[in-house]
Amino acid sequence: MSTDPITIFRKTWATYQKVISNNLMFHREISAAVSKLFKTNQAPLHLIDLGCGDASHILKLLKPGQLGEYCGCDLSQYALDEARKNLEPFGVAVNLCCNDMLSLLQQAPGKHYDVVYSSYALHHLQTEAKQSFFTECRRVLRDNGFVILIDIMRDEGQTRPDYLYNYNKTVRNQWNALTPDERNQVQEHIRSCDFPEPASVLEKLARNAGFSKCRRLEKQTWHEAWCFEA
Ligand SMILES: C[S@@+](CC[C@H](N)C(=O)[O-])C[C@H]1O[C@@H](n2cnc3c(N)ncnc32)[C@H](O)[C@@H]1O
Repeated sequence: MSTDPITIFRKTWATYQKVISNNLMFHREISAAVSKLFKTNQAPLHLIDLGCGDASHILKLLKPGQLGEYCGCDLSQYALDEARKNLEPFGVAVNLCCNDMLSLLQQAPGKHYDVVYSSYALHHLQTEAKQSFFTECRRVLRDNGFVILIDIMRDEGQTRPDYLYNYNKTVRNQWNALTPDERNQVQEHIRSCDFPEPASVLEKLARNAGFSKCRRLEKQTWHEAWCFEA
């Protein structure tokens, strides 16, 4: 088996594409809810996408002309290379950084963005770092700006071990579109990288940072989309 990080990432990425195309993480319902919100914003958006991957998910929610500026960050250079190709038709100023999302946010200019967008990436951070995430989001957003957060969220009162047990049970029993090898790969990733919070904890962290309007846009089992505004 290969230990080369690019080969490993490519394999993991191919599995993630299968997860998306079979709607196993409810990208379809979540995209429908989030794109409604983007449709109400006509001016070209200055947007920062944290944990952007190949940017294909967010680009389906926007039309060329709706973006004024795109800054994306991810820990994987392979994903960013794909993102650059996907962003070409949008013809906007693009800045892609291979960096940790919190470091990038901390370096970003204040009151610069209309939207901070993060999809299925924040649950990789520990609680304290999630608080810093919201604090930095508030700092980098313009007055009418907002955060769109799509992520895995634990049920209220559910412990992390209970979440891991139940999510992995769903992967084992219901994610039949994946091969057994791919299902094992996903379960291993979940055990080592998933630190989701219940929605109430994320809302509290957002309110601590000065976001007073917090609303859920969509919820499908543990998969949720939220909008946070000052
Ligand atoms: C499940 S993928 C989601 C990709 C894309 N946002 C989407 O919704 O299709 C999670 C992405 O977050 C990235 N990631 C995880 N932790 C990160 C961190 N601390 N900083 C930046 N990117 C991170 C991973 O490399 C991966 O590309």
